[in-house]
Amino acid sequence: MEQPKIDWSNLSFGYMPTDVNVRCTYKNGEWGELRTTTDTHISIHMAATCLHYGQEAFEGLKAFMGKDGKIRVFRLDENAKRLQSSCRGIMMAEFPEDKFRDAVILAVRENRRFVPPYESGASLYLRPLLIGTSAQVGVKPASEYEFILFVTPVGPYFKGGFQTTPFVIMREYDRAAPLGTGIYKVGGNYAASLVAGDHAHRLGYSNIFYLDAKEKKYIDECGAANFFAIKGNTYVTPKSTSILPSITNKSLMQLAESMGMTVERRHIPVEELAEFDEAGACGTAAVISPIERIDDYDTKKSYVFSKDGKPGKVCEKLYNKLRAIQYGEEEDVYGWTTIIK
Ligand code: PLP
Ligand code: COI
Repeated sequence: MEQPKIDWSNLSFGYMPTDVNVRCTYKNGEWGELRTTTDTHISIHMAATCLHYGQEAFEGLKAFMGKDGKIRVFRLDENAKRLQSSCRGIMMAEFPEDKFRDAVILAVRENRRFVPPYESGASLYLRPLLIGTSAQVGVKPASEYEFILFVTPVGPYFKGGFQTTPFVIMREYDRAAPLGTGIYKVGGNYAASLVAGDHAHRLGYSNIFYLDAKEKKYIDECGAANFFAIKGNTYVTPKSTSILPSITNKSLMQLAESMGMTVERRHIPVEELAEFDEAGACGTAAVISPIERIDDYDTKKSYVFSKDGKPGKVCEKLYNKLRAIQYGEEEDVYGWTTIIK
């Protein structure tokens, strides 16, 4: 197997072509067989519902080359379930869990030369997506769907990887309505976050933390990751009807508990930021991105979590624990990883 010429240690979070992608078609009320293709394009009807009415959902998960030379995929069953939930949320045909698992295994196996080496600290990002493909002009769900899974090797999502960066709160933007689609991983949520994200970047921030859209009182999440904070021996993270249920956050909560910490999922008023010792953004792409400070653009207050620019001790401990399981350095007592044979 010829190794691709890639500077593994300096990868960013971007797209790079790999060998094959996996497809599956839903027609006449059922999903067909999985197939692989080298074609990176799709041909769909111009009236396909994904193009007009946003019938699109996606997932993000990672495969890691372990210290022992084995490839591990992290919590793929959780991603399979969340994709099904997103499908129900925007009335698309649900992709069966066992097919999802098979598609992940097939995609990683067929692209294994693109799994970054253990020493690089990079990983293979898997991007499954599902779209409505049949023609429709009335606002109705499609009758045909396409599932696609492509992979691409990636480095850190926020610049610098495990380094603190600044974030901002701005009340002029919302990402999702309280009873809207924020809990689903659908493309529309990300379209809704682009202007705010661009504004934050232009001001020098990594990203924006949205507040709850109804009361504008509580921290929700940022455009691509959940929020968590450390207060003494407590791990605190928002409870909200408009944020994505992050699999990374769910894992960190479990790890925090195993470390003897108390875990609280509840509303987090903006002013409480002043009481936190550490804070971070977490997600598959973000892993843990420790937060240097959060500036409140409207009140001009600044909440600082790291004065020396270094990540906090608890963030570091959680990060190391999570990575150790993902890279097979530590026993996976939770059964979170799937080894690709
Ligand atoms: N929140 C949003 C809006 C996201 O896009 C993501 C990324 O998937 C997350 C949170 C983190 O979720 P997970 O940890 O499952 O990747
Ligand atoms: C992920 O963490 O997998 C995401 O999907 C976040 C972002 C790249 C959209």
